[in-house]
Amino acid sequence: EYPKFVKVVEVGPRDGLQNEKEIVPTGVKIHLIDMLSEAGLPVIEATSFVSSKWVPQLADHTDVLRGIQKKPHVRYPVLTPNIQGFHNAVAAGAAEVAVFASVSETFSKKNINCSIDESMLRFQEVINAAKEQKIPVRGYISCALGCPYEGQMEPSKVAELAKRLYGMGCYEISLGDTIGVGTPGSMLKMLQKVMKEVPVNALAVHCHDTYGQALPNILTALQQGRGAFGNLIQAFHKLPTEIKKDLSNLIKTEDLRYTGLIYGFLGRGDGVNLAKVMEAGDFICYALQRKTNSKVAQAKYKT
Ligand code: HMG
Ligand code: MG
Repeated sequence: EYPKFVKVVEVGPRDGLQNEKEIVPTGVKIHLIDMLSEAGLPVIEATSFVSSKWVPQLADHTDVLRGIQKKPHVRYPVLTPNIQGFHNAVAAGAAEVAVFASVSETFSKKNINCSIDESMLRFQEVINAAKEQKIPVRGYISCALGCPYEGQMEPSKVAELAKRLYGMGCYEISLGDTIGVGTPGSMLKMLQKVMKEVPVNALAVHCHDTYGQALPNILTALQQGRGAFGNLIQAFHKLPTEIKKDLSNLIKTEDLRYTGLIYGFLGRGDGVNLAKVMEAGDFICYALQRKTNSKVAQAKYKT
């Protein structure tokens, strides 16, 4: 059985665009986010307040966040790796932020230049400051189903880290299959451990689609959502992209939305408009001069 309600966290403008080699014009990013808002998506991860030396593509974070037309019922979280990023994000008008940890030491070092323990100290600082301003904080865990440097990860380590982040004050823990190596089997094993430590209604999954497993992985996660309030929350993506040398691409929102329409559990009455999601997909593919690899979009073109 699937949950009756699934929250979609659209991360295309951030996770999709962050590794594009050509700098995407700020206006294009703003227009994309505005189209996604129009499509009825409830949460749109807009950008990251990270170092522009590390991620030049998102150096325009402040202009993007200030430039979008924020709809009253849409949330626009941004990534903040440390207190400097948090202050910059708040100055730019962020009302929700996300910290991002990794269960792999090597990945942590390569992604945010510090150990897992060090990152927890930084995140606690962010969470404390956020609490004072009543700003909700999401927490990501990267490499939950595998690391590009260390290979398989212990589900018990993922569970331990999830418990820590939840205990520190993240209201939602998003379990990231960063390089898309997970399978329904490994997803289930990992979730079973994590659900012992964190309530299911505070969990999300974030699935990359390298091996075409994102959709089955997400469905597996959703089936675990029967308890509590019956919703496992989804983070997923809409843009074609490359992460760490082609290791990853992203599941397309329109494909997941279509699945929901067929099985009748996703997006029932959630106000997400498939046609408008596809228009946003067309827009960004045109801007990036890229062909879509969304199956739904391809099917549309064939007919
Ligand atoms: P660092 O170089 O170790 O930082 O970077 P530092 O504290 O030593 O400072 C060095 C310089 O960076 C200084 O500037 C700081 O001011 C500046 P300088 O004096 O040299 O001119 N700096 C900053 N500038 C802007 N914003 C900031 C900031 N902090 C310091 N917040 C840092 C550490 C974390 C900043 C860096 O490693 C970084 O920006 N990393 C971000 C990496 C990133 O964005 N990765 C992608 C997102 S995570 C992801 O995609 C996974 C996810 O999708 C889930 C999944 O799939 O698993 C979420
Ligand atoms: Mg990701």
